Amino acid sequence: MKRLGFLASGRGSNMLAIIRACESGRLPASPVLVISNNPDARALQLGSEHGLEALHMSRRTHGDAAALDQAMTAAMQAHQVDLVILAGYMKKIGPQLLSAYAHRILNIHPSLLPKHGGRGMYGMHVHEAVIAAGETETGVTVHLVNAEYDSGDILARRTVSVAADDDAESLAARVLEVEHRLYTEVLGKILSGEITLPE
Ligand code: GRF
Repeated sequence: MKRLGFLASGRGSNMLAIIRACESGRLPASPVLVISNNPDARALQLGSEHGLEALHMSRRTHGDAAALDQAMTAAMQAHQVDLVILAGYMKKIGPQLLSAYAHRILNIHPSLLPKHGGRGMYGMHVHEAVIAAGETETGVTVHLVNAEYDSGDILARRTVSVAADDDAESLAARVLEVEHRLYTEVLGKILSGEITLPE
C-alpha cells in the first residue's frame, strides 16, 4: 500500500476525508504522517487521533528555511511516504522536498485554476474573488505542486455552480464538499493507475 504524508496548516477537513476513505477501505493507502507549520492546527490533533505521527515543523522549530526543508524531507522519507498531500498548507514547499518528491506532491485549490489562484488566493479570498468577478461557475482543482503557488500540472477539475444569492460563505461550504470527494477520487485514480504521474 502506498503511504501518504500530509502537510496542513489549519482545520484539516480534506486530510480527514482522505484518512476516512483509507480507514473504510475505499482508498487503498496508509496515512502515516502529518506535518504542520502551525502547532495549534486542528489537522495535527486529527492526525494523532487517527494514528498518524503528527509533527509541528516550522521556522520556529528549525531556524532557517534550508534546515526546515531538510528536516521535512527527512521526516517524509523516514516514514517511507510515497505521496505528499497538501491539505490547506499555507507555506511554499522547499527545493529539497520538491526534488525528493518530484511529481509526487499534490495540492487542492478551491477554484477552477488557473482562475483565482496564486499568491494571496487562499481561504475566503478565493470565494470572495469569484463572487466579485460575477462568475456563474467556480470549482475545485487538484494539481501537482511545483515551486510556485497553484501553478503545477492540473490532474483534475470539477465545476460548482455559483447561485445568484451565494455569498463567499455559502459558496465555500458547497465547494468544500466537492473538494473532499474530488481529492479522494483523484488519489484513488493515481493508486489504481488510471491517472499516471510523470516520472
Ligand atoms: C481548502 O479549501 C483547500 O482547497 C485549500 O485550503 C483549504 C483547506 O481546508 N488549499 P481544510 O484544512 O482541508 O479543511
